[in-house]
Amino acid sequence: MNKHILITGGGTGIGRALAQRFAKKGWLVTIVGRRLNLLQEVAQENPDKITFISADVGKIQDRQKIVNEAKGTLDLLVHNAAVLGPVGPILDQNPENWRTHMATNVEGPLFLTQALLPNLVQNSRVIHISSGAAHQGIPGWGMYCTSKAALYMLGQLLKDELAQRNVWFGSVRPGIVDTPMQEEIRTLDPENFPRVEQFRQYKATGALVTSELVAQYLEWLLLEVSGPQLGEREWDIRDSEWQSAWQKLT
Ligand SMILES: NC(=O)c1ccc[n+]([C@@H]2O[C@H](COP(=O)([O-])OP(=O)(O)OC[C@H]3O[C@@H](n4cnc5c(N)ncnc54)[C@H](OP(=O)(O)O)[C@@H]3O)[C@@H](O)[C@H]2O)c1
Repeated sequence: MNKHILITGGGTGIGRALAQRFAKKGWLVTIVGRRLNLLQEVAQENPDKITFISADVGKIQDRQKIVNEAKGTLDLLVHNAAVLGPVGPILDQNPENWRTHMATNVEGPLFLTQALLPNLVQNSRVIHISSGAAHQGIPGWGMYCTSKAALYMLGQLLKDELAQRNVWFGSVRPGIVDTPMQEEIRTLDPENFPRVEQFRQYKATGALVTSELVAQYLEWLLLEVSGPQLGEREWDIRDSEWQSAWQKLT
């Protein structure tokens, strides 16, 4: 039977590259996102392997839709969907935007994992896409830093609870990646994000990594690193210790 991976945020960026990589390996891939046209585009590239579910991971009824439509068992569940904004000083934010942001970046991963537990096979894996922003306060990214920090702590707790069910957990920092999220960052007003010029320079000087390279790194983590080792640390693509291992993958 074909192995099955479900990737949230699979219509663009890292999620899209990961979907294409696993489909090429012969896996069944289910991608989730809000924008139907982007999901359709990805699925069209490999219609035999990729199916899509248009859903908002931050909404209870949409998570139920994902559970209803995700066919069969799951070997890998990758919580990749996230939003950056709203950006700007944290004291300028309002409760409504806060709730929507947290619903996407924190509530979605937790309750989707919970709802999909019956689908996760023995020795399956659940992955959170983390960020350096989980571990340092970046002015203007207050909501994002807070939600990614919460996601990190959620992983610390899930790691043991999932292990009791023979499901392995991992948290991964992908580096600074050339995706629509970085495009959005480069358009930000310095008033709201004082470090914007630094991020424009990353693009101008070719310092961003590609989504395809991140997908290669993720494949190595998901398929080659042992389950117990996966939860031992937060993995970072920039960590030189493992580069020769994952860069061998083609
Ligand atoms: N790019 C970087 O430098 C970088 C660095 C560190 C970490 N990350 C993390 O990497 C992950 C992927 O981001 P990316 O860089 O590939 O950016 P991206 O292209 O903007 O990807 C985010 C994806 O999440 C989906 N999404 C957002 N809100 C959603 C919701 N409520 N429900 C369902 N899907 C939703 C978006 O699709 P829809 O809008 O169509 O729903 C989009 O496909 C994120 O977790 C991000 O925080 C990125």
